[in-house]
Amino acid sequence: MSATLPTPGPSASAVVPALEVRDLVVRYGRAPGRLRRRASAPAVDGVDLVLAPGRTVGLVGESGSGKSTIAKAVLGLQAVSDGTVTFRGQDLTSASARERRAVAADLRVVFQDPYSSLNPTRTIGDTLAEPLRLQGLGAAQARERAVEVLEQVGLPGEVVDRYPGQFSGGQRQRVAIARALVCRPEVVVLDEPVSALDLSTQAQVLNLLADLRDEHGYSFLFVAHDLGVVRFLSDDVVVLYRGRVMESGPAEEVTQRPRHPYTQALVAASPVPRPGEQAERRLARERLGVGSASTASADPAGCPFASRCPLATDTCSTERPALRLLGEAQVSCHHAS
Ligand SMILES: Nc1ncnc2c1ncn2[C@@H]1O[C@H](COP(=O)(O)OP(=O)(O)OP(=O)(O)O)[C@@H](O)[C@H]1O
Ligand code: SF4
Ligand SMILES: [Mg+2]
Repeated sequence: MSATLPTPGPSASAVVPALEVRDLVVRYGRAPGRLRRRASAPAVDGVDLVLAPGRTVGLVGESGSGKSTIAKAVLGLQAVSDGTVTFRGQDLTSASARERRAVAADLRVVFQDPYSSLNPTRTIGDTLAEPLRLQGLGAAQARERAVEVLEQVGLPGEVVDRYPGQFSGGQRQRVAIARALVCRPEVVVLDEPVSALDLSTQAQVLNLLADLRDEHGYSFLFVAHDLGVVRFLSDDVVVLYRGRVMESGPAEEVTQRPRHPYTQALVAASPVPRPGEQAERRLARERLGVGSASTASADPAGCPFASRCPLATDTCSTERPALRLLGEAQVSCHHAS
C-alpha cells in the first residue's frame, strides 16, 4: 500500500529526488514463539518518502516506530522485504556490495552515539582521511580536507591528531558530522544525532546542521523522536507509528495544525523550555487521553493506533484508514478533519 509523499518545494518538483522510498516494507523475521508459517508484523509497513536535493525530511515517532529501520534500509544495512529505495534515480533496493560502495561517499550517516561509531584507537585525522584515501586522494590532501571539514563543524583544525576519547560528547558529535561530510556527500541520514546531548549542546549542533545544509546544499533525512527538534530542521515531516505513516506533509502544517490524534499527542509531548507552556502541554496530553506505547495493542485489520486513541470507533478496529489529503497534509485517520 502506498503511504505518503511529503511535498517537496515547488522548485524541487521538476528535479530527480536525492532519495526516494516507495512502499517500503521491512520484516525482521519470525517472532519467537510464533507458528513457523506466520511471519512477525513488519517493522516498516508501506512507507513512502521523497527527499528533494537540498531539503530535509524529518522522520518522527516514538521508540520502536521504525525510524532507524527505515534509515538502515536506505543505507543498505538492513534488507528490504518489499518496495524500493532509489538514490539520485538509481535503484539501490537490491544493490550489490560493489554498487553500494560506489555510492557510499555520497550517502552518509551520523548515528546517535558518536563514541561507539568512532574508532577509539585511531586519530580523528586518520578516521576522516580513510574515505578520501579510498577515493584516491594523497595523504597530504586528505589531511588538508580533514582539517577543513573540522573547521566547518566548529572545531579547531589541530584536533585532527586527537583520539575520540579526548573530546566532550558535543565535540564528538561534531567529529561524527565531519566524518559524514568529509567526502561532500549529497544525502546524509541523521539518526537521532542530538538525542544524547544536553539541551544547549543540542541547540548548537542543530544550528550547525542547518548552517551546513544551507551553505553546502546537503539533503538530510533527519530522524528524531521529538517533534520540536524535527521541526527545527525539517522542510517536511513524516510521522510514524508501528512502522506506518500516520501523517505527513510540510513541517509547519504537521506541527502547527496536527490532524492525526497521534501527531497531536507527539506535539503535546514535545518538551518546551518555558515551564508554563510545558505544564499546559502536559494538561493537553492528559486531556487527549492517549496511553503509552507499552499499553498499545493493535488488530492488524484496523488502525494501529486504535487501542490508544480517544476518538476510536468500531470502524477503527476493523478498517485500516488510508492516507487522505487534509489541508496540505496526508493523514491516515477515519475521523480526522
Ligand atoms: N535487529 C532487529 N531484529 C528484530 N527486531 C528489530 C531489530 N531492530 C529493530 N527491531 C524491531 O523493529 C521495530 C522498529 O525498531 P526501530 O529500531 O526501527 O525503531 P525506532 O523508531 O528507531 O526506535 P528508537 O526511537 O527506540 O530508536 C521495533 O519493534 C524493534 O523492536
Ligand atoms: S482511525 Fe480511529 S483509532 Fe485511528 S487515529 Fe483515527 S480516530 Fe483514532
Ligand atoms: Mg532508532
